[in-house]
Amino acid sequence: MANRSFSKQDKSNLTWFVKLYLKPHVAALSVVFVVILSQAFVYQQFLSLTERGLRVIFEQGQLQELVWICAVTTGIFAVRAFGSYFIPVQSAKIAGRAVQAMRLDLIKHLLTVRQEFFDRSTAGDVSLRLANQARDLGDFVGQSTVNAVRDALTVIVVSGYLIYKSPQLFAFAIVVIPMILVAINFASQRIKSLQRSYENAFGHYMGSIDEMTSGMRTIKMTRQEESETQRLNNEVNDLFKFTVNLQKASAILAPLIDVASAAFYLLVIGVGGYFALSDQYALDGAGIISFLLGLVMLFDPAKNLGNFFVRLQSNLILIDSVRGYLTLAAEDQNPTGQWLDRGQGVHIALQAVDFSYPNGTQVLTAVDMQFQAGKTTAIVGATGSGKTTVLALLAKLYDRSGGDIRYNGIGIDDYALAGLRENINIVSQDIVIFNKSIYDNIAYARPDASIDEIHAAARKAQIFDLMTTRGDQPVGPKGSGLSGGQRQRIAIARAFLKSAQILILDEATSALDPVTEKLINDAFFDHEAQATKIIVTHKLKSIENADMIYVLDAGQVVEQGQHADLMGQQGLYAAMYSTQMGDRA
Ligand SMILES: Nc1ncnc2c1ncn2[C@@H]1O[C@H](COP(=O)(O)OP(=O)(O)O)[C@@H](O)[C@H]1O
Ligand SMILES: [Mg+2]
Repeated sequence: MANRSFSKQDKSNLTWFVKLYLKPHVAALSVVFVVILSQAFVYQQFLSLTERGLRVIFEQGQLQELVWICAVTTGIFAVRAFGSYFIPVQSAKIAGRAVQAMRLDLIKHLLTVRQEFFDRSTAGDVSLRLANQARDLGDFVGQSTVNAVRDALTVIVVSGYLIYKSPQLFAFAIVVIPMILVAINFASQRIKSLQRSYENAFGHYMGSIDEMTSGMRTIKMTRQEESETQRLNNEVNDLFKFTVNLQKASAILAPLIDVASAAFYLLVIGVGGYFALSDQYALDGAGIISFLLGLVMLFDPAKNLGNFFVRLQSNLILIDSVRGYLTLAAEDQNPTGQWLDRGQGVHIALQAVDFSYPNGTQVLTAVDMQFQAGKTTAIVGATGSGKTTVLALLAKLYDRSGGDIRYNGIGIDDYALAGLRENINIVSQDIVIFNKSIYDNIAYARPDASIDEIHAAARKAQIFDLMTTRGDQPVGPKGSGLSGGQRQRIAIARAFLKSAQILILDEATSALDPVTEKLINDAFFDHEAQATKIIVTHKLKSIENADMIYVLDAGQVVEQGQHADLMGQQGLYAAMYSTQMGDRA
């Protein structure tokens, strides 16, 4: 194959794939190849036996030999039948293992990838790699690769036999091969670029489906059914276009080989007939017939081999795509770093912290904050002022761009990631609820918790009654059978149950009625005397008792102090507070 079809990247990808996912199965693969080899050998034997059989019929007329030939032929086909079962089953197994290993590697790695990546990729993109591309690669490896080896061996063995029988005739038959190679090379280029476009289009399509199903309420209420249909229609059409074009590009090979086959026949019958008639060559009628049979046996494997190289191009794109995910930057786990010990009380200090998201917008500027153990600290400010971002930096979901974050005086980067996160519990607005019972949903936070502990947490979060009423009943996919406030209460119960040293509520009570909110807030303020408690809320009434309040405005701390101090300052806080109180009056 010409070099142009394989870039340096392709070669490295192929090596990677073979080394990691096929090499562990070398023993099993070898067995498959031995069986394949026996099949190719069987072909050759069949040819030579046929020739002998014909000669028996035409010349010697010995019935006994004919019987013997028939018996051996039966045996030969029995070997072939065994191979026809064994090879696909065994290769499917090997490919299945390869895909399984690759999927697990992908999942394992994705779980360590930095949050930034998930901010900019869709669920569609991720499932495209984990589901479709992994499967397609597996199909290719399992069927095509093994078939290709079988076909290549068949071609080699049968050609060898034909060359042995008549090199001159064979030379005539293969003059068309260079033409086919050029065609394969040409098709490869086009197929690669089409396959890439197809994968992109497919990723978009899956992403859109995900958006459509999760945004169904909004679509219904804004009556966007038409425009959604239109949008998906375009993507479905794109997929159609690329599929057809891909098929077209790879289909040019088959007719070429068919034309070549016809040329072969003519040459062999014409030239071979001439050889047979002339005394100069050692070929008779039986020789020519079996030579023709041999050629027939060559055509299909040759055609399949051509298709294999074409499909290989498509699959090189898939390997590249899957491998791309495996090279995504992982979080620095820092496993040998410090660990926040349980029960020591945690003091967190932010010093001149700056932060920009990867897209470049500066979100936090010179933020100074202190969170004391055993105290409740509140962060307030308008939507978009950067409150959630501060909390994300505390949990090291992102790395600060400047300044210092210290836990008990030690820099955040010196901690093991697990040692840090294990101690932080954030209840945020995006709550994950599983389609299990309320009890199981709460227990998720700490599977080893006792029934009593789970009941206590549920009581504190005001979800105990509902939990008892619903019993074992699942709450529906993503908690669809619950109200927003009920989902929030489950999340809060989880936080109480997990009982980390640092407990953070990020607008976690936004969907609750004032009475329930007050009860939960009281439980929060009373929760674990030692804990470092942080609360983000728009309802200023509920944080009047906080030990410290920070007011954020456009990513900067503009005011700080206790409720009374802040009211005295008559600044942003006081203004927000009187607006809220005025609203209630
Ligand atoms: N993943 C992100 N990538 C880029 N910008 C973001 C991201 N998350 C939030 N922002 C932006 O950062 C700013 C602060 O957001 P956030 O901390 O969520 O505010 P708050 O919690 O105070 O409402 C907003 O302008 C928001 O648009
Ligand atoms: Mg927020």
